[in-house]
Amino acid sequence: MEETKISLMNKQLDALLYQENNLIANLANASALINDTYEDLNWSGFYLYNEETDELDLGPFQGKVACMHIKSGNGVVGTAFADQQIHRVANVHEFPGHIACDSASNSEIVVPITKGDKKIGVLDIDSPSLNRFTEAEENELADFVKVLLQHMG
Ligand code: SME
Repeated sequence: MEETKISLMNKQLDALLYQENNLIANLANASALINDTYEDLNWSGFYLYNEETDELDLGPFQGKVACMHIKSGNGVVGTAFADQQIHRVANVHEFPGHIACDSASNSEIVVPITKGDKKIGVLDIDSPSLNRFTEAEENELADFVKVLLQHMG
């Protein structure tokens, strides 16, 4: 059986969050780690699900000020949350309903964060370059979220 390779970034995340259980602190450092590791980003961070409003609220991030609330099903963020799939969008201007929080964004990847049947939110990363995100990075970010989930109670 093929062994899963854990990337350096994901090992760093695991070490960074060792015995840490404050969600906001963990997500703040997780967004900083991505921002430090990946080149050519203009935004990296989290949206957290608010059950009362059925919206995704802005969470810890690195980048310019961003939309505070996104309805489930809206934009790349809300779509990935609603269908619980990773969305790797080469050109956000071709994505129906894309929400332009930062006009510098041209490509985007959104990874849902769900523990068991509890939907927590999404990881959202934007780049000013078209087609910035590779399939290998998609896999790395899926594993990144798995590491994050291991550190959530
Ligand atoms: N572009 C996203 C909105 C969030 S910002 O990129 C930070 C979207 O279409 O959902």
